[in-house]
Amino acid sequence: MKASLINGSPKKNNSASASIIKAIQIRMEHKADCTVCNAASQKQQEILESFDKCNALVFVFPLYVDSLPSHLLRLLDDIWNKIADYAPQARIYAVVNNGFYEGRQNAAALEVMRNFCACAGLQWGQGLGVGAGGMIFAAPVGHGPLKNLGRALDLLAENILEGKTGDDYLFEPNFPKFLYKTFAHLGWIWQARKNGLKIRQMWDKSKVKHR
Ligand SMILES: Cc1cc2nc3c(=O)[nH]c(=O)nc-3n(C[C@H](O)[C@H](O)[C@H](O)COP(=O)(O)O)c2cc1C
Repeated sequence: MKASLINGSPKKNNSASASIIKAIQIRMEHKADCTVCNAASQKQQEILESFDKCNALVFVFPLYVDSLPSHLLRLLDDIWNKIADYAPQARIYAVVNNGFYEGRQNAAALEVMRNFCACAGLQWGQGLGVGAGGMIFAAPVGHGPLKNLGRALDLLAENILEGKTGDDYLFEPNFPKFLYKTFAHLGWIWQARKNGLKIRQMWDKSKVKHR
């Protein structure tokens, strides 16, 4: 069993996508030969070669403007007609995480991945839509607010290992939405302060230029 995990976050460190990849790897440890590559490298040929004879290609990425980050779109656009030459048996799995609370925000991005899969002539495996992706650092995966994520990744890893298809699953953390929003607002204020901005200035629209 050979699987390639593709990180679609442009962040060099501390991305939610990298943490999700780590959690998938742990669930597949000793049962599959897993390699990880980064779409941001834009080394299309190297990435394609790393897919050689893979049974599963797992794309893990953040939601950008209800879709895929542009560097990931470019990668898919460059490789869609070559991918089946390297991994004709591969199933495509996708895990999208987003900043808003609701996991259903990721539905359109999963649709893009399904279309990519159909164009590439490969079989669809499963899609996950992880709401409130920033919560990933709040606890170990599978515990506390990340119980739903843990369960979803258990099932995903099982499907990957057995080469099975699963229903797409869009979900939220085990954490109330109003608290998530409150912490998000506090986070913005903290970041603004760190950058020398007062709360009052965040609401000041007089400097916004209208075209
Ligand atoms: C340019 C940009 C666009 C984004 N667009 C959305 C969006 O449309 N909806 C959403 O819920 N989150 C959006 N986000 C938030 C990210 O999806 C979220 O922070 C995610 O957890 C980042 O994952 P990563 O750490 O793996 O990169 C956006 C973030 C950026 C930087």
